[in-house]
Amino acid sequence: MSSDQPSVVTAPQAIPQAATGHVPAGDATIMIFGASGDLTARKLMPALFDLWYEGYLSDASPIIGVARRPKSDEEFRNEIFADVNGNVRAGQISPERWSQFASRLHYLQLDIANPSDYAPLVNGLVPIEQAAGTQGKRVVYLATAPDLFLSAVEGLSQSGLVPGRESADWLRVVFEKPFGHDLASAQELSTQLRRFLREDQIYRIDHYLGKETVQNILLFRFGNSIFEPLFNRNHIDHVQITVAESQGMERGRGGYYDHSGALRDVLQNHVLQLLCLIAMEPPALFGARDLHDEKLKVLKALSGGNRGDVASWVIPGQYSAGVVDGKPAASYLSEERIPPDSRTETYVAMKVQVDNWRWAGVPFYLRTGKRMPSRVSEIAIQFKLPPLNLFSTVECEGDICDLVGARPNRLVFRIQPSESIKLSFSTKRPGMNYQIHPVTMDFNYDATFKQALPEAYERLLLDVLRGDSTLFLRTDELEAAWQFVTPVLEYWSRHQTVPEPYRAGSWGPRSADDLLLRDSRNWRTPSST
Ligand code: BG6
Repeated sequence: MSSDQPSVVTAPQAIPQAATGHVPAGDATIMIFGASGDLTARKLMPALFDLWYEGYLSDASPIIGVARRPKSDEEFRNEIFADVNGNVRAGQISPERWSQFASRLHYLQLDIANPSDYAPLVNGLVPIEQAAGTQGKRVVYLATAPDLFLSAVEGLSQSGLVPGRESADWLRVVFEKPFGHDLASAQELSTQLRRFLREDQIYRIDHYLGKETVQNILLFRFGNSIFEPLFNRNHIDHVQITVAESQGMERGRGGYYDHSGALRDVLQNHVLQLLCLIAMEPPALFGARDLHDEKLKVLKALSGGNRGDVASWVIPGQYSAGVVDGKPAASYLSEERIPPDSRTETYVAMKVQVDNWRWAGVPFYLRTGKRMPSRVSEIAIQFKLPPLNLFSTVECEGDICDLVGARPNRLVFRIQPSESIKLSFSTKRPGMNYQIHPVTMDFNYDATFKQALPEAYERLLLDVLRGDSTLFLRTDELEAAWQFVTPVLEYWSRHQTVPEPYRAGSWGPRSADDLLLRDSRNWRTPSST
């Protein structure tokens, strides 16, 4: 299905029963460019194994690792075994299962940037596909450095692997982020790619959209009738979106990260996508085109949350030495591969507005950072207080109660970990007085479903195989996100902005607190309700 077509939601009773009850995607060859990389090892191969294990992957589909170093199929299989074994749920791998899965793994050598390497690639591909019977249906996953995207696509095109619109064959190319580093570079890359690929052949990943809890935002909003009427400026005071990580620059990530920073690495994509799902209008149909259209409208309506210049609504930070999870953590500037005078932000907070009828005047506070006290992503929606404060609110320990300020209702989507949705509200504290005791209603995935949630990459890989681009980014959507953040990057560069230090293991720099204090608000501490 192309990204221009609405995807069809399959009714559960229409699913034929395989051994697992799951319908395998159609036969296709899966090629992973960048097969020696971290993403392939930690995410893609374990996800493919899981899909196969769950019965979602057709038994015919070969998986071909493609990378620069020479390697035999056998060597590749052994490497992948270690990756898969270390990253799937205990008990999933037995020797028989592994050898069944491994028999579909192959390796082909390719220097992506070298055009003359593509003919041997095709020569290697043909016998694998003939044996599997999957000719002409291919997924190419570009898990490579972004500066190789264009060479890869050009090479595929010149070696005849990009079928035309009229062909029964198909090719779907998956692009890992970052897709561009600002608006101009993203536009330029899209323009260049259009020489070789159609929009329906391009799948731009934002792995947050593959998370079960992120998809549930749409189900929660548009599958219930009680909350949606409240999702607007009349009832909501403000929204806070947090994507916090306790990790720093482990696994040699510093080299990439220092050219990226928190704004490009996480806010421009994951955080803005969360904002879109919370703020968008209901789509006419639940399909790719309508969802992309609605998200695009939100991105176009974004503006800085204060009238002043960028510094009045965006706060960059950089971690200094501190303590995370009880262990000493070095400062960003002393991490591996980080220049000692780096001005890269490892934290960013901003106040934004969605300038449309639904949301005008409601601030959205966004923040993301490395080396925060814990890894937690959540969206907290704070409702307005009742118009009259008729009752006092208390907080009690045993019989000892303190009067506290009124507590607004709050709806919290916990994206990860401890995935849940919590609604806090006021109730009468039992006794002879009319006193409010704040309580919480809690839906917890673990307690309710008692099964592990699928990994984001599993869902997204399956969607590519099914040709469903709903959870991928369309060109205009991606560009709108860059359009919003690029002026911030330009402002920082023009003013040589030095990010404000925050202690590793803290919730960010003081100015980020001040951003909310000026509005008489506070950041929520994510572990509380
Ligand atoms: C990636 C960023 O896109 O998302 C990483 O490049 C970040 O820096 C990661 O750590 C966070 O993803 P998750 O799924 O662990 O929240």
